[in-house]
This record gives sequence, C-alpha cells and structure tokens, in this order.
Amino acid sequence: MKIKNRHRKSFALRCCATMRSPLPIMVCSMVGCIMIIHFYMVSHRTDVEKSQARLRQISATRELGQTEEESFQLPPPRSRRSPRAIKRRGPRKPPTVIDEFLDDSSELRSFFFPHRRTAVDPSKEGNDSMHFYPGRQWLDTEGNPIQAHGGGLLYVESTGTYYWYGENKDGPTYQAHRKASARVDIIGVNCYSSKDLWTWTNEGIVLSGEETNTTHDLHKGNVLERPKVIFNDRTGKYVMWMHVDDANYTKAAVGVAVSVSPTGPFEYLYSKRPHDCESRDMTVFKDDDGTAYLIYSSDDNSELHVGPLTGDYLDVTGDMRRILIGQRREAPAVFKHRGTYYMITSGCSGWAPNTAMVHAAETMMGPWETMGNPCAGGNKIFRATTFFSQGSFVVPLRGLPGWFIFMADRWNPSDLRDSRYVWLPVGVGGAADEPLEYSFGFPLWSRVSVYWHSRWRLPEGWRGFR
Ligand code: GAL
Repeated sequence: MKIKNRHRKSFALRCCATMRSPLPIMVCSMVGCIMIIHFYMVSHRTDVEKSQARLRQISATRELGQTEEESFQLPPPRSRRSPRAIKRRGPRKPPTVIDEFLDDSSELRSFFFPHRRTAVDPSKEGNDSMHFYPGRQWLDTEGNPIQAHGGGLLYVESTGTYYWYGENKDGPTYQAHRKASARVDIIGVNCYSSKDLWTWTNEGIVLSGEETNTTHDLHKGNVLERPKVIFNDRTGKYVMWMHVDDANYTKAAVGVAVSVSPTGPFEYLYSKRPHDCESRDMTVFKDDDGTAYLIYSSDDNSELHVGPLTGDYLDVTGDMRRILIGQRREAPAVFKHRGTYYMITSGCSGWAPNTAMVHAAETMMGPWETMGNPCAGGNKIFRATTFFSQGSFVVPLRGLPGWFIFMADRWNPSDLRDSRYVWLPVGVGGAADEPLEYSFGFPLWSRVSVYWHSRWRLPEGWRGFR
C-alpha cells in the first residue's frame, strides 16, 4: 500500500515536473509566434497587394487625365459674295465654326467626320487595337458602323457583359417640312454587347419601330430618342425608358418598354407625360439602394425635372422636383461618386453642338448646383462645343474609382446615320475649379473633367482591376 502511494506520489511529482518544464511553454509560444507572424504576413500581404493595386490604378489613370492640346484652327473665310454684292452689301460675315460644322460642303468636313477608311475596326489587330478615336467611324464585329445613337450602357454583373442601347438611325435623313429639324424615320432601338467596351457585337433591334399602324407611338413617322435600360432586381426585368415624340416634338412624352432578357425583345408598354409635364431629352439613373429616377427636360426645355420611379420601374411616382430652373439644359447624363451625384448636360441647339455643363448635388432630388464646363484639353473651340458633340451617358469604370467614360454623339444633321461617337475619360477629384469656403455653407464640390484625347485606350489589364 505504502509502495503504491509512493509510486503515485512520484508519478504525480513527475507529472508536475513535466508540466513545469519549459518545453510545452516553448512549443506553445512558438506556435503562437508562428501564428502571429502568419497573420501579420497575410494582412501585410493584403495591405501590400492593396497598395500595389492602388499604385497600378494611379499610374493606369495618369494617361487618362493627361490634357492633350489640339492645333485645329478655322481656315480663312471663303467669300461667296461677288465683288458687286460686296460693294452693295459689304463682305459677308465670316462663318462661325458651327456654320462650318453644319455645312456639308465645308473644307473641314473630313476633320469633323473622318473618312470611312480611318474607321475603328475591332477585327483588325495591331497598334490601334483597343484604342478609341473620338469622331471616327466605329465598326461592330461584323464590320458595320455601330448604330446606337443617343445611347446608354447597362452592365450585367453575372456575365461581365456591357450592353449598349441606342437609336438605329440607319435610314435616309430628310425634313418633314421646310422648317423642321433633320430626321430619320424610327427603325428601332439597337443593342450591342461587349466585355471590353471596345469590341461590340450587334445583338439586333431589341425594340422595333411600327411600319403600318399610324396611331402607334413608335410609328416610323414619329420620334424615338435616347433609350436607356435599367435592371429591376425585384422583378428580374429589364426596363427601357425613352423619349417618344411626334415629328414636330409637340407630344413631348416618355415611353416605357420591358423585357426578361437584356437582348430583348422589349415589349412596348405605353407613353405618358410624366407628372403631367412635357418631357423631351431624358435619362434614367439607378442608385445604389435600387431606387431609380427619371430626369427630363421640361417646360419648353427651360428646366429639368427629377423624380423617383415606382418599385417596378414601370412608372413615375407623384414625387418630382424642378431643378436648374431657367438654365435651359438638356441631354442629361447622371453619375455618382463617393456619395455625390453629378450630371453633365448640354445646352439646347438641336443637332448643333454647344457648351456642356456639369452639375452636382448631395441627393438626386437636389438642390443641384451648376459647376461649369467640364471639358478639358483640346482648345477653346473644342471646349466650347463639347468636342463637337452632345452627351448621352456616363459609364462608371469598374475598378477605377473616380473614373468614368463620357459617351457623346457628334450629330451629322445632313446624314444622321453617319453621326459619330465621342467617348472620352471623365475624372472626378482633385481641387475644385473655384474653391468655395465651407464657412459660406456651400459644399466644396470636386472638379469633374472630361479629358480630350484624339486617341486613347483604357488602362492595360483594366478588366482585371477589381
Ligand atoms: C437635340 C436633342 C436630340 C434631338 C435633336 C433634334 O436637342 O438633344 O436628342 O432631339 O435635338 O433636333
């Protein structure tokens, strides 16, 4: 018994001795240290990766924000008056740059509308691959000029695909009467798809014009402009909003169509005057919380209206604010950065280009403040004419916070089907144009710049920037 007890004691002592030995403590500490080092390395690596990605983004966007000068100048005016007429009525006023732009016999024609042989062609690999050339013809994957004017983009995350919707204007240009503006009959809304924003595949007409029924909103003799598509997460449907009008632009309404697929076909639902108001140039904007808004030029284009859509995006609600009252703005294109809403608009001069303005607001419903002309680079004439174009949409560049693409149309009123696209990078950030004091109670808006480039591309590897 005694022996047994002694044994137990010595066993217990041995155990205690083992417990007190530094070995397990050392092992534990080493494991702890290794774990700490591992966690440190993992977190440090993600920090390093993050800052490397940030550096990559900064250097990638440096080129986008470089201002490029343009040496374009007006040629000396050609007097079309005979010496006798000059004697009687004096020399004719020199044509303005807008006159030259609108004159299809102008010497500058090929400057504004470069020849077909310079077209951007995605089927050709080479130095020009992936490069945007604002104003040149742009071909789809079948080699045909892209017909998607006054358009907008939709990004479908699940497939990583962009869809470009726009007016198919591939018909003859004519005037409904002597004083009417140039027009093309409604053909329909075209859709193109792309994964890289440069190579576009024609998905066909996703909403067709109406050939025979003259009472239909989309009868070919009417107007269908500026189609925009947003996806409703709740109903799982793609909803298209568009400007619907008669040939004289007196109907001033919006139309709504819906589809279960981004490539249509879209079912046309109805048209209406939203909030019982005239509606001409318009756009829709879907916010991060899923609320979508309709923004439209109203009251003879003297102001814009903004209001949320219903939950299914098929109608407007009763809520509406009048914004930019008396400023006569149209062609609205809305985007958002770091909680601030921005909108680029044009003035009202039909197919002729004019000066863009950018506006900012803390909420979609306003108040909206006008910040000035966002166009940077080129030259004075380029900046005053939005690079001879009119905006239609602003695309956020995924993985490049603060960078967007300004999509604009260079309208060709003598041959509308040959209107060109002007896509340029937009940067938000940096110092405000005219810094305002916080103490005045005004927010200090970031500067928004649309940078002119005669040739540019998205940063190499951009699709991998996530
Ligand atoms: C512009 C408008 C275009 C088209 C054109 C017709 O003011 O932005 O979308 O409607 O007028 O002249």
